[in-house]
Amino acid sequence: VEVRRGGGGHGRKLWVLVFPLPFQGHINPMLHLAGALHGRGGLSVTVLHTRINAIDPSRYPEFAFVEVPDGIPPEVAATGTVVDAILAMNAALEVSPSFRDVLASAVDGAEGRPPAACLIIDANLLAAQKVAAGLGLPTLVLRTGSAASLCCYLAYPILLQKGYLPPKESQLYEPVKELPPLRVRDLFYSSDTNQEKARETLANITETVRNSNGMVINTFDKLEPAELKRIRDELNNDIVVVLAAGPFHKVSSINNGSSMNLQPDQSCIEWLDTQATGSVLYVSFGSLASLDSNEFLEVACGLESSGQPFLWVVRPDLVRGLNRVCLPDGYEQAVEGRGKMIRWAPQQEVLAHRAVGGFWTHNGWNSTLESISEGVPMICQPQFADQMLNTRYVKAVWGVGFELEGNLERGKIKKAIRRLMVEKAGTKIREHAKELKNKVEGCLESSGSSQIAIEKLVNYIISLQ
Ligand code: UDX
Repeated sequence: VEVRRGGGGHGRKLWVLVFPLPFQGHINPMLHLAGALHGRGGLSVTVLHTRINAIDPSRYPEFAFVEVPDGIPPEVAATGTVVDAILAMNAALEVSPSFRDVLASAVDGAEGRPPAACLIIDANLLAAQKVAAGLGLPTLVLRTGSAASLCCYLAYPILLQKGYLPPKESQLYEPVKELPPLRVRDLFYSSDTNQEKARETLANITETVRNSNGMVINTFDKLEPAELKRIRDELNNDIVVVLAAGPFHKVSSINNGSSMNLQPDQSCIEWLDTQATGSVLYVSFGSLASLDSNEFLEVACGLESSGQPFLWVVRPDLVRGLNRVCLPDGYEQAVEGRGKMIRWAPQQEVLAHRAVGGFWTHNGWNSTLESISEGVPMICQPQFADQMLNTRYVKAVWGVGFELEGNLERGKIKKAIRRLMVEKAGTKIREHAKELKNKVEGCLESSGSSQIAIEKLVNYIISLQ
């Protein structure tokens, strides 16, 4: 197989299609992986994207883009859960003639190109895997979450069978013997009414993985050695390669920040430049998690009373049911110079800034890994999906943060911030965060495990051509 380097777009011999799930926490890692492939192997990448959360192709001139239908009904897009959207998308894709046509032309190798080597899909897109398989197009899966969360999904049928789920109030703190160090409350779970849909979604993920040729996970060997081993042992007979090649945003040669339509507010970087080293708490709850108006008020007052400088991402939809935020009278004057609120941050740049000394996060996997990558310790406030599980690992396995449990209350928030940022009680956590950052740097060196994993992935893709 001839692989030519340099240049972007079409015309080269080896190419792959990538298809992210159209949500922020899934699009970013897929584009970073695409950037890692584009940079290393001289591959060209075609990104399949949807009307919902469409990616602006002009921001990624290295890639070609093709729009495919998402099939998510407008009412689901407006008010449904992510799980509803995923199920609707899979139902639509499986029978969509236009989606099939896009893959078929990739298999035929239109425009003077050979057939695409493979399709790299988000693990949630089982229908895409099935359509590709029907056309003889190999698939590789990108797992955007941790290895530990995948272990939990693989074990889900057993967890249900053994009665861990749905969780009982009296057993929330009991260990899940099959998945140490998880406790019942750390398991992926959605409310009772959505239990069946959650089960179906997780079963789809494991089926997509098992039916594909290989998988690449956004983690690194030294972060989750036991979990990666467990996955490799369990999938040994089903798939050829299981690679840990993260953190993708660090291995990618192309990193244009987040793909979201909200423009990152760069003024916060100049503001951070004026703050003392390690003094600023960065506060963000990701792209989906929200607060009610009382919680919002408690967060605002807790930040104010902590006395610590803070940078807070207040998305337009952060407060449930309101499209504007209400701060107490005189709040902005009270925190002037010490507190900054923005709609959307250049998060990776913020976490890498010398002034940032702590992150109050919802523990979406991307945020967790980005924080680990920069040695920033965390206050964890998980809400749903894999976030509770990520929090458990942050606290009990890596020791780089602690959970803010129970109701949000200003006094408790103030104490947590002081502990994380300045008090002796947080020293170990701050040290562990620095140590873990060194491990990240190790995996990114030229002979580091994640660089080797990307090379293996490129070689594997070449072998599929
Ligand atoms: C969702 C799910 O909620 C989570 O459980 C799952 O692990 C991933 O998908 P999301 O809310 O999108 O998570 O959070 P996260 O995974 O942390 O991803 C958010 C991304 O947006 C990160 O890459 C972060 O850098 C970026 N971001 C966030 C910004 O660029 N600016 C911001 O202001 C906030």
